Order: sequence, then C-alpha cells, then structure tokens
Amino acid sequence: MTDDEIDWPRYLADFHRDRAGVVEAVLSRSVGGDHTPYRWLARAVGGGARTVLDLACGSGPVSRELTGDGRTVIGLDLSSAELRLAAERGPGPWIRGDGLRLPFKDGSLDAVTSSIGLVVITPLTALMAEITRVLRPGGVLAAMAPALRPLSPSDLRILARINTRLRGKPQFPGPVELAGFTKTLQAYGMRRVEDQRERYRFTVTSRADAELVLSALYLPQTRWSRVEAAIELLQDRVARKGSVDITIPMRRVVAIK
Ligand SMILES: C[S@@+](CC[C@H](N)C(=O)[O-])C[C@H]1O[C@@H](n2cnc3c(N)ncnc32)[C@H](O)[C@@H]1O
Repeated sequence: MTDDEIDWPRYLADFHRDRAGVVEAVLSRSVGGDHTPYRWLARAVGGGARTVLDLACGSGPVSRELTGDGRTVIGLDLSSAELRLAAERGPGPWIRGDGLRLPFKDGSLDAVTSSIGLVVITPLTALMAEITRVLRPGGVLAAMAPALRPLSPSDLRILARINTRLRGKPQFPGPVELAGFTKTLQAYGMRRVEDQRERYRFTVTSRADAELVLSALYLPQTRWSRVEAAIELLQDRVARKGSVDITIPMRRVVAIK
C-alpha cells in the first residue's frame, strides 16, 4: 500500500473508537522537566482568554489543563468514544464535530488549542481557514505536534531499533511535524510568535508499558505481528536493564490572528 492509498478517515475512526484514551495514557505519563506536553501546550494560552476551543480534544487532557475560573473551554472531537471519556473526566462542554466545519460564529473565540490535531485533520489549509474564521482578531492559536528532533544519539538508536522491528514508522495524515506551517500561517493572516521544541520521556518498565506505548502509534501499514516484535524488543531490554526510555520530541507553535 502506498501512503496515498491509506483510508485515513476510516483508520482514525476505528483507532479512536477501539483505543479511546490511549494517546492521553501515554502523553500524560511523558515528562520533560516538571511537566507533560499537555501542560506545556496549555501554558501558551494567556489568562485573559475567556472562550477557548480545544480542537481534536480526544479524551480531554488539554481542555482539563486549561479549565479555570471564568473560562469556558470547549472540547471538540469527531470520536464519540473519546468524548465519552472526556465527559467522565472533565466539565466540558464537549462537542462532537468536524474540525473542518466548526460550529462557531466568526470571530467568537479568544484561543484555539490543538494537541496533535493539526497533523491529523486534513487538508491543513481548510482547517486553518476554519480556525482563523472562528478566532477573534488578536486571538491565539497554540498547536503541538510530534516532531523529529531534538533527539540524542541514544534516543535515535532505540527509535531506530523499534522502527526496524516495525519495518516502518508511525505516520500521520498531515505534514510531518507541521512542516511548512509558518507559510500556511502567513497565508491565513496569522503571525507566528513562538516556535519551540521539547523532549518528553516515556519510561517503559513492564510489558504492559511497552504494549501501551506501541498501541498509541498510528501504524496503518503495519501488521500486528510487527508491533508484537517491537513490544518484545522493549520487554527484553526491560528484563536486562530494568527500564527503557522512549523519547517523544514535540513542536509547539503559537500564532496570533
Ligand atoms: C492524536 S489524537 C489527539 C487527541 C488529544 N488532543 C491528545 O493529544 O491526547 C487526534 C484526535 O483527532 C480527532 N480527529 C480526527 N479527525 C478529526 C476531525 N476531522 N475533526 C475533529 N477531530 C478529529 C481524533 O478523534 C482524535 O481524538
């Protein structure tokens, strides 16, 4: 199967129905310094933002980080299974909807956040048109996506071994680590005010951890036997060394309309 032949809408719908909460289960245990990537993303939104949309909210981890006095945080996602979990965990409101057709008036939101949504919802240009439509002038977009760097030589070694077992790499429907995003922002009248990268570490200490981290990856072209092989690789290393750290680099971009 070539990349163009992947039926992404179906893959994503099945993945998030069958594995609701798995992305949060991994990233909420991934730490860099004193924080998770979710907290890092939420920190980009200033206290003055009163109405915030968390786009492609999944089970709601960023929405919950953003919730505070006098602020309304609306979580929107296409997956009802993810939204069910979100509703069990946080106040909402939670809306089932498509990021490409946002159910909000023009200029009605102070901020939009999205953890991994901008590399999942395609085409990115149509998504940006919707985001800039609903943001008020001066409103903020804070988006985060998995990145290719920073990685140390030892991070690269373990990731290369995992990819060898998988005979492939995790994929996203959208541009890898938001490549070309600065130009897209400019085209939609947004000014980039920040572009940073951070490394987060998920520590595997058991087979269950290995299964969790591998099952949170989008691998639309990979047979389960290959995933099993990667789980066994991590399990072997845990048996020999006690733990294995998987590094997850993230890119965070903040822009103002
Ligand atoms: C990688 S997950 C990220 C979830 C959450 N933001 C997090 O970081 O834990 C991507 C999310 O995008 C949602 N999604 C996919 N296509 C969408 C669309 N067209 N509109 C809204 N959400 C969508 C999926 O259901 C899924 O919950």
